[in-house]
Amino acid sequence: MSNDSTPAVVKGEELYRGKAKTVFHCDDPSRLILHFRNDTSAFDGEKIEQLNRKGEINNRINAFVMQKLSAAGVNTHFDRLLSAEESLVKKLDMLPVECVVRNIAAGSLCKRLGVEEGLELETPLFEFFLKNDELHDPMINDHHIRLFGWGTQQQIDQMQQITFAVNDVLKKLFADIGILLVDYKLEFGDFEGELVLGDEFTPDGCRLWDAETRKKLDKDRFRRDLGDVVEAYEEVALRLGVPLD
Ligand code: ADP
Ligand code: TMP
Ligand code: ASP
Repeated sequence: MSNDSTPAVVKGEELYRGKAKTVFHCDDPSRLILHFRNDTSAFDGEKIEQLNRKGEINNRINAFVMQKLSAAGVNTHFDRLLSAEESLVKKLDMLPVECVVRNIAAGSLCKRLGVEEGLELETPLFEFFLKNDELHDPMINDHHIRLFGWGTQQQIDQMQQITFAVNDVLKKLFADIGILLVDYKLEFGDFEGELVLGDEFTPDGCRLWDAETRKKLDKDRFRRDLGDVVEAYEEVALRLGVPLD
């Protein structure tokens, strides 16, 4: 996908193989290649299946959303699409925390607090989780992050501020195509002293419901064996206007 103004990138050694993406070095030491695989994981890797075309659909949705966020002034790691399943990103020093914002009650919030799924929250709710599959991503707060050195106060403040800013942009983006942004998870990292949004924004890491029917269009279809997982992701791409092969 390179042209005269975008030099070809030479793929290097594998750096890390996660549950859904593989990360590769490349000839530019400031960049990494993210390969979005078809592997789909739930319950911290307990359930893993291959879903045909998911890698490509997620890579393209992520590119589209990251570009929308960059245009809205969010500092993201996204550089450019390299192929159907690969993107070039800035190489970040990732913080081991996950930032979740919720607009509607679902998932672990309901389990933890006995709140009914679907309850509209008066204001968006922010939660930190530790990124640790073995411990099943326990919920943490800013005191844990400072005490155990997972981030500084400035990074904590910025993660909260950027995650809420992303909510403003994406709630509207999805509302315009008849989709409710129920909740989502973001990850951040350091790039040359700046906090940058990393990882992905795809239906694997958020909850999206059709605004009229409340049909689930995200990974809950996989978690709960609802079927038509890739079809739902494809519908999200289609409504966003993301071109698929
Ligand atoms: P997991 O590690 O949870 O199994 P993935 O399969 O999505 O998740 O693997 C992708 C890994 O790459 C994640 O651990 C994520 O934190 C990391 N990552 C995402 N973006 C970047 C980046 N720009 N620089 C360095 N690491 C990144
Ligand atoms: P939760 O309801 O399970 O806490 O998840 C909240 C949102 O964050 C949901 O959209 C899924 C996403 N998420 C991930 O993508 N990965 C994770 O490891 C966790 C804990 C949440
Ligand atoms: N993100 C975690 C996993 O990939 C948890 C989940 O989505 O249920 O297993």
